[in-house]
Amino acid sequence: MKRNLITLDRPERFDTPYSISKAKLEAALADVVDRLEKMAKEHPGEVPGSSIGFKYPFSTDVTSWLGGLYAGCHWLAYELTGNKFFKEQGDILVQKYREMLDAGIGIGGHDQGFRYILSCIAAWKATGNEFAYETALEAGKLLYEHGYAQKGKFIIRSKKSWQGSGCRTMMDSMLNVPLLYWVGKETGEAKYTEAAIGHTKTTEDLLIRADGSSFHHYQFDPETEAPVGGLTLQGRSDDSCWSRGQAWGVYGFPIAYSYVKEQFILDVHKDITYFMLNHLPEDNIPAWDYDFTSTKAVKDSSAGVISACGMHEMAKRLSNDNPDKAIFTNAAAMILDSTIDTCTGDNGIDYDGFLFHVTGYASAKKPEKRHIDQTAVYGDFFYFEALLRHYNPDFRMYW
Ligand code: GLY
Repeated sequence: MKRNLITLDRPERFDTPYSISKAKLEAALADVVDRLEKMAKEHPGEVPGSSIGFKYPFSTDVTSWLGGLYAGCHWLAYELTGNKFFKEQGDILVQKYREMLDAGIGIGGHDQGFRYILSCIAAWKATGNEFAYETALEAGKLLYEHGYAQKGKFIIRSKKSWQGSGCRTMMDSMLNVPLLYWVGKETGEAKYTEAAIGHTKTTEDLLIRADGSSFHHYQFDPETEAPVGGLTLQGRSDDSCWSRGQAWGVYGFPIAYSYVKEQFILDVHKDITYFMLNHLPEDNIPAWDYDFTSTKAVKDSSAGVISACGMHEMAKRLSNDNPDKAIFTNAAAMILDSTIDTCTGDNGIDYDGFLFHVTGYASAKKPEKRHIDQTAVYGDFFYFEALLRHYNPDFRMYW
């Protein structure tokens, strides 16, 4: 979709250099590591589901995307602390993801990236584990073979029948497409990179609207794979902008740019990030949908920390004379600092996870799964990553 000229409503809000003290980052990281160790010691070899009453239901079933994010937390913790306990837990999850692949479970699923990047690519990057490397390569090749629509050029939403809502793509897959980029880079086979660019371009063309907001989902015709229209699953309405969906773009496009230096990626990233910043409540924590800009609306702190990681990543890649470099750097730090202050700490609640005010499904379309104002591992992982990005100047992402 052709986009309007999108500008920042209040550039002065983000133009003052902003930093978080080392002591504050260290205290926040120590809290994260302690909480992770406690959860993992109480539930060894298990992974969390979506929280109910701030407690995670743990199980040995790693098939959900949440298991990948939890594995990623262990690799971040191992790299930070060198504590072998986290490596042992991460290795157990690598083995489970290998078994899942061998059993043919989740093949080509749209969550393949979340699962295999944060378990296996992370293990390989953190420890050089070749078994994990081979597993991730195979997972990526299977995503290409079974999860990529060749005509429509998009990563397929795998949950439903092809005739129905399976013939869709979604903003979330901007964090699955890095698996295709990575396989293309590692194998040197152009078809994987071309597919990854195809998905990135389709997202830019169809899911990003003229004002820089995003549809959560996009429906295609199952026969021709031609575009039909945008809609939502987790947002307030088909025409609203679900904040975590937007965040998947604010982080996904910079990851894509880390693999391929395409101008369209820089352009769309700027537009969607400006939209996000223009709709960020004054306390710098997103509401669950950008129809809401009041600090009183139900929040989704995961959208904030995912967006902070994305702005931080893109800022590193922009030249010093680009004013967005400072804007994105400052805004990322402001969001993270407010997240530490308002979404963590001892509220007198015995809770799992690291981060409050995470919202799963607030949409009326999904009344049976209302994880509203909870903790969730997709908040935890990106909060941990955002802290490390600010703490360690040499931070290397797993994506
Ligand atoms: N990928 C699902 C979600 O963001 O809730």
